[in-house]
Order: sequence, then C-alpha cells, then structure tokens
Amino acid sequence: ETTPALFTPLKIRGTELKNRVVVSPMCMYSSVDGFATNFHLVHVGQLAMRGVSLMIMEATGVAPEGRITPNCLGIWKDEHIEKLREVVAFAHANKALVGIQLAHAGRKASTSPPWLIKSQGYNLDETKGGWPKDIIGPSAIPFDERSFVPREMTLADIQRVQQNFVDAAVRADKAGFDVVELHGAHGYLIQEFLSPISNKRTDAYGGSFENRIRFLVETAQKVRKTWPEHKPLFVRVSSTDWVAPSSDVPTGGWTEEETVELAKVLRAQGVDLVDCSTAGNSPLQKIPLAPGYQVQFATAVRKGAPGMLSGAVGIITDAKQANEIVASGSADLVFMGRQLLRDPNFVLNAALELNAFGQYPHQYERGR
Ligand code: FNR
Repeated sequence: ETTPALFTPLKIRGTELKNRVVVSPMCMYSSVDGFATNFHLVHVGQLAMRGVSLMIMEATGVAPEGRITPNCLGIWKDEHIEKLREVVAFAHANKALVGIQLAHAGRKASTSPPWLIKSQGYNLDETKGGWPKDIIGPSAIPFDERSFVPREMTLADIQRVQQNFVDAAVRADKAGFDVVELHGAHGYLIQEFLSPISNKRTDAYGGSFENRIRFLVETAQKVRKTWPEHKPLFVRVSSTDWVAPSSDVPTGGWTEEETVELAKVLRAQGVDLVDCSTAGNSPLQKIPLAPGYQVQFATAVRKGAPGMLSGAVGIITDAKQANEIVASGSADLVFMGRQLLRDPNFVLNAALELNAFGQYPHQYERGR
C-alpha cells in the first residue's frame, strides 16, 4: 500500500520530520519569570507521544519586555535552558522533534493572559506586573486607541533586539531544540516593522518594502549564522493584514504579494520554511474565516519563491483535509493548533483513518 501524503517524511537540511503534522505554536501563559515548568513537560510530552512530527513551542520572549504577558515563556537568560532541555529530551526519547518560536511582542507587550482579562483588564500597568515604560515598536503608534503607545526604537534598540534573537537561538541550541521559528506574525515586533500600518519610520528600517523587511531579514541572517547548519530555520508571517487601502489607511496593509517577495529574500538568507498565518496587526482587519482559509498563502509562497518550503495553518481540523493539502502540493507541512488542544490524539486517529502504518508508539500499538 502507498503511504498517504500526510504521513510521508520530509527532510529539511539534516533534520527529518517523520510526517507532515506540526503543532502550531500556542501561548500557554504558564511561566513565571519566563521559566518552563512541569506543565510544559507534560503538555509538550503528551503531544510528542501521540504522533506529531514536530511540536513548536509557544511564542518565547527573547527579552523580558518582549513578552506578551508576565506569564509567557522566556529564553532571555541561561537559567532558562535547563528545564527546556528536559522538555526537549523527553520529546526526543518519544521520537518527536521540538522547535521554539522566538518572539518579541513589540507594541503588543505587557498584557493580561486571556483568563485574567476579566479580573485585571487587558493592558497591565506596573501595579499589575506590567512594563508600559519599556514597550517598544518601530513607530510610536498604538495598536488601537486603548493600547499602550510604544516608544519608537532607536538604531541601538534595533541592534540590541536583533542580538537578543541571536542569543536566544544560541540558548535554544544548547537546550537541544531542532527548529527555530522567528515570530514575524500577528502584530508583534517583527511584523510591526513589515507592515506599513505600524511602521512609519523614515530611516533605513521604514518606508519602502526593502526598508520595512530589513529588520526581519537582518535578524534572520544573524540567527542563521549562529543556528547550526543542519537545523531548519522557519519564519512565521502574517501573509496579509487583511486591510485594504481606504481613507483610514491610505497605504492599506501588508499583502500576499509582499509575502512572496519576502519569501524570496529570506530563502537567500537560508530560511527554510515560511509558516503562513495572517492578521493581528490592525483592528480594521476583515478576516474571511473558513476551513483552510489561509492555505492559499502557503501555496503562493511555495509556488512563487523557488526552493522555499511552506506551512499551512488555520482551521485545518480533519485528516482528509490535512492530507489533501500536502497531496495537492498546496503546502509542505500542516500546522495545527486548536484541533490538537481538543484532540491530542488527532494524528494517531488520522493514521487509522488514512491507513498509515508505523505511526503508533510501541507502548500504544495495541490501541490500533
Ligand atoms: C495561538 N496562536 C499562536 N500563534 C503564534 O504564532 N504564536 C503563539 O504563541 C500563539 N499562541 C496561541 C495560543 C492559543 C491558545 C491559540 C488557540 C492560538 C495561533 C495558532 O498558532 C494558530 O495559528 C491558530 O490557532 C490557527 O490555527 P488553528 O488553531 O485553527 O489550527
């Protein structure tokens, strides 16, 4: 029998994914001072034992002021490495790879974990453990009228934050991670530079397309130089802001065409895969939510940027749907988020449904 496309391996550089299902990065807001805990060990561990090829750990702060919330995972100091190494080692022992999403929240930092918004409000000031004075962005423009106004980054800030990403990648390697994904999506710092909605700089980091992508391209280049040659480097982008030009936003937002052009530039810097999400940078966004609504962007990157792999994400919930995305050449990997929270056994059930063999761990074989 032939192996269904979803369960074929994929080799990227010196790293082999055993199938095409990746756990999409998801904030768990379960850290104090950035440290991983036994929550992360079990959360990552359970998915690692249930058939996913690669689990990408949540948006992880490369600097304390770059966290979304005070409870976000961090990798800004060497002390963070030890527990992360334990989490990664457990997954490896169970034949799953682990990646880490390196992130800086930019103007969207210093907010409340979702389940505390009701009690303490969305924006956190100093009295609630927030850091409004340290919030930075490409320009001093808030996300919306209720948000904190970031301080416009100086060139020294830009250099420092890029070094934060590099140092974080070095720590990620020491912890044993297989993949680094740069978080260039959802209105956080890297995307704030990309999008003309949040970037009004007049220096080399704003204005033209080449200038707006400069912060990310330089960061990717610096990380690639230190991240081991055999390990893949991914970048997650918001493929579109979903904001059309209007009197409110004469420029409109970041577009699909820009994503494809960016992918070509990133490929030349040794980035292996673009993980194609969308949105998160403007309250004016109009998102046409539907099953597989972002797959088209992964396809555009894969076809438009020679040699670049792409990942599809967003309301992919069904084994046949996921398999078709890979079989049709729409994307190389399928990233799944909420479906795996609802059903951590999704991949093993999909293997049964699609008649794929060799996916069950030995200990669970009789469950087949
Ligand atoms: C997310 N998402 C997300 N994305 C990201 O790039 N970094 C992150 O840390 C998070 N955090 C996060 C937490 C939770 C609880 C959810 C539900 C989502 C977005 C996620 O990775 C994914 O792109 C979307 O959820 C869409 O995919 P699904 O859930 O429809 O498969």
